Amino acid sequence: MLRLGVNIDHVATLRNARGTPWPDPMRAAELAQAAGADGITAHLREDRRHIRDEDIDTLMARLTLPLNFEMAATPEMQAIALRHRPHAVCIVPEKREERTTEGGLDVAGQEEALAAFIAPLREAGCRVSLFIGHQPEQIRASARVGAAVVELHTGAYCDLDTEGRHDERDAELQALQQGARLAADLGLEVHAGHGLTFGTVGPIAAIPQLAELNIGHFLIGESVFLGLDGAIREMRRRMDMARA
Ligand code: PXP
Repeated sequence: MLRLGVNIDHVATLRNARGTPWPDPMRAAELAQAAGADGITAHLREDRRHIRDEDIDTLMARLTLPLNFEMAATPEMQAIALRHRPHAVCIVPEKREERTTEGGLDVAGQEEALAAFIAPLREAGCRVSLFIGHQPEQIRASARVGAAVVELHTGAYCDLDTEGRHDERDAELQALQQGARLAADLGLEVHAGHGLTFGTVGPIAAIPQLAELNIGHFLIGESVFLGLDGAIREMRRRMDMARA
């Protein structure tokens, strides 16, 4: 079965907009679990724009689902991950000026440094995942540096769909399909995420090698209309339909 990881970052975005304790990301994680989420994802950014250190403390203390801790490859984040030892650590590229994670990690361009960065996380028992594009050289490099998982960036696919550029979108989907096949052939577990909506999840969920999707912004936005429970259940239904 294709797992659904619910990213709760933007519950924290909404909370931080007012400086109140609500809405509470931990409460969202519990609701997501009740709605059928298989895991919770949270990205502690360097600038703490949404998830904060205390949120990670709370999630680690109270969450019974696996936590996928997203972070940049910095010494500060590595120390936090080693202190908490979450189920999974997903390493993402991070730029202060970006609105969201814009591209995949350049694994091929920093193989040695990433292998050294990943080693203690693996030794601590974390499943290390690398958030990358579908380029074969990035997938091959991910296998070489010792990652257990690659998460393929679906942002470009979703943007091309929104912009109505359907030929380019279909070419991007094909590249994601080929990337998933290559990653699985190399023994990597394959995940995907970024930008997914009710409209775009189907063709991605149908990629047979995928084990997990991580979805956040759309689900939190849609929960204004459907409730978080309703939004997650509808996403789950569409994922299952694509696999049927
Ligand atoms: N996967 C990764 C690695 C991410 O960085 C993000 C965004 O934080 C997501 C999935 C979820 O993307 P979205 O919020 O657009 O669904």
